[in-house]
This record gives sequence, C-alpha cells and structure tokens, in this order.
Amino acid sequence: MRRNNGIASFGWSFPWRSAVILAASSLILVASDTAPARIPSLVTWTPENIAAASSGDRFRGMLLAKRCDHCHGAEGFSNIASTPNLVGMTKLAIWKQLEDFRTHKRLSRTMEPIAASLSPRDIADVVSYYAALPVFPDPEDDRVFPKGLKDSGHAAIASRLVTFGDGERGIPPCQSCHGPVAYRTGVPSLATQNGEYVLNQLEMFATRTRANDINMPMRTIAALLTEEERHALAEYYGAGLGLQPAGSSGQK
Ligand code: HEC
Ligand code: HEC
Repeated sequence: MRRNNGIASFGWSFPWRSAVILAASSLILVASDTAPARIPSLVTWTPENIAAASSGDRFRGMLLAKRCDHCHGAEGFSNIASTPNLVGMTKLAIWKQLEDFRTHKRLSRTMEPIAASLSPRDIADVVSYYAALPVFPDPEDDRVFPKGLKDSGHAAIASRLVTFGDGERGIPPCQSCHGPVAYRTGVPSLATQNGEYVLNQLEMFATRTRANDINMPMRTIAALLTEEERHALAEYYGAGLGLQPAGSSGQK
C-alpha cells in the first residue's frame, strides 16, 4: 500500500513508467553483455574449489567419458586435429575449463552445452578420469599426436620463446607457466597438445575471442607474438617437443 502511494505521489502517467522500465531493462542487458570481458572466469583457486576439482571418482568418470571419447579420443588423444587432447592435463586445468564453458566464460558452441549438462559431481568424476590417463598409451592409437616438425627455422624460433621468452617485448618463457620447468596453478600442459588446437587458441586469445585467462597473461602474450611465431610454437608443441625442458633436448 505504502509503495503504491509513493509511486502515485510522483504523478507518473503510464507512458513515463514504461519508458523508465524500458531504460532500466536495457541497462541490465548492457551490463550482462559486458560481464564476460570484465570477469574472465568465475574460478578462483580457493581451498574449496581445489577440493571440488580433486574429489572425483575415476571409475564413474570413465563411464561418463563415453560421452566425450568420440571427439576427445578413448585414450585422451583426439584424432580430430582442432579438438584438444585431454591427456597430460592436471585435474585443476580440466576442471577450470569445464567450469568456464558451463558458466559461458569460455565460448564454444560445442562445449558450452556439454559442460552445462554435467552436474558438479559429474565434472569432478570426468576430470579425475582424464587426469589419470597415461601420457604414452598404445602407439597403435589413431591419434594425430605427435606430428613431425616441418621447418627447422620454426623450431629455433619456438624453442627460444619457450626457453627464454622475449625480454624486449615483455614475453615470459612459455615453459615457466606451462611446464615442464614450472607450472602455474590450473594451467593446461601443452606438452601433449595438438598443434592445430594450440594455433587456434593463440589466435583466439590474440583476438580476444577467448578471454577466460585470469589476469590475462594469454591475451597479452598471444597479441605480442607475430603470426610466424604463433605457427612456430604450434608446430613445436604439436611435435611433442614440449615434453622435455627446452634446451635439454638438443633443440636450439
Ligand atoms: C562433439 C565433439 C565434442 C564432444 C562430444 C566433447 N568435446 Fe570437449 N571439446 C571439443 C572441442 C571442439 C573443444 C575445443 C573448443 C575450442 O576450440 O575452444 C573442446 C574442448 C574441451 C576442453 C578444453 C580443453 C583445453 O585444453 O582447454 C575440455 C576440458 C573438454 N572439451 C572436455 C570434454 C568432456 C569432459 C566431454 C564429455 C563430457 C567433452 N569435452 C565432449 C569437442 C567435444
Ligand atoms: C604467465 C604465465 C603464462 C605464460 C608465460 C604463458 N602462458 Fe599460456 N596460458 C597461461 C594460462 C594461465 C592459461 C590458461 C588460461 C585459462 O585459464 O583458460 C594458458 C593457456 C594457454 C593455451 C591454451 C591451452 C588449452 O589447453 O586450452 C595455449 C595454447 C597457450 N597458453 C600457449 C602459450 C605459449 C605458446 C606461451 C609462450 C609464448 C605461453 N602460453 C606462455 C599462462 C601462461
């Protein structure tokens, strides 16, 4: 009653009221449009999230993975070049990506609905299964990894960026976050990743089509790389060279 009286005392006629309601709802629309860019991910590495990501049942995960393996491969090695290998990734890394797809912070027409169809327990279980897969399974697999290096000039360009980065442009070494020298919490390993997928992701970060990196290291780094460097890095990881610390494998 009191509220009605209050509104009436402003003397609003009907058109005014609908104009205000329209303006307010378009503000809400604008706010939800810009939200993904301002908040790259809803995941923070709190003890609760780390526990949730680590608590899965591997056996149940193996059954759930039947929904995934025609794309990601039965052994976690995909035979579709643009689909990521899930093998070799930590639980936290896989969990964060599924959470980001589920909450539409990482966009993919394929993965957003799949992640949204999983319960929190399903996500933990499937994560537990993929994180336990052996990195070197049956060599008879129809996987596309690793691919031979095409260009030794490219190998040198990539190896330098992986080992040293580029101080002048402010690019830190890839292996200081992605391993094998050091791993940042929740960072995906690139050592067993498809080259095509690595290239796609670098391009998506550079153009900000992918924007779920907390504190935006990848949007920054990918945009600083030249196109040739992005190709060289994709070939390097796609050839399995990231399995050894760069510099120790005889690569220059
Ligand atoms: C129809 C094919 C398809 C199916 C089925 C599928 N995925 Fe994917 N998945 C993809 C593609 C394609 C991408 C890469 C999206 C992109 O390019 O950003 C992806 C990306 C991912 C990533 C991110 C990996 C990374 O390195 O960042 C995870 C994790 C993942 N999928 C898990 C799953 C799980 C778990 C299931 C089953 C519940 C599943 N996917 C089912 C096609 C599929
Ligand atoms: C300061 C740390 C840092 C450095 C250095 C770094 N990255 Fe990353 N990178 C990240 C993080 C964090 C992510 C995961 C973002 C997310 O949460 O989705 C990532 C993700 C990626 C991905 C996507 C992987 C996937 O499975 O989806 C690629 C590809 C990648 N980085 C390539 C590189 C390359 C190549 C370099 C070197 C030129 C590099 N990164 C250097 C932190 C780093």
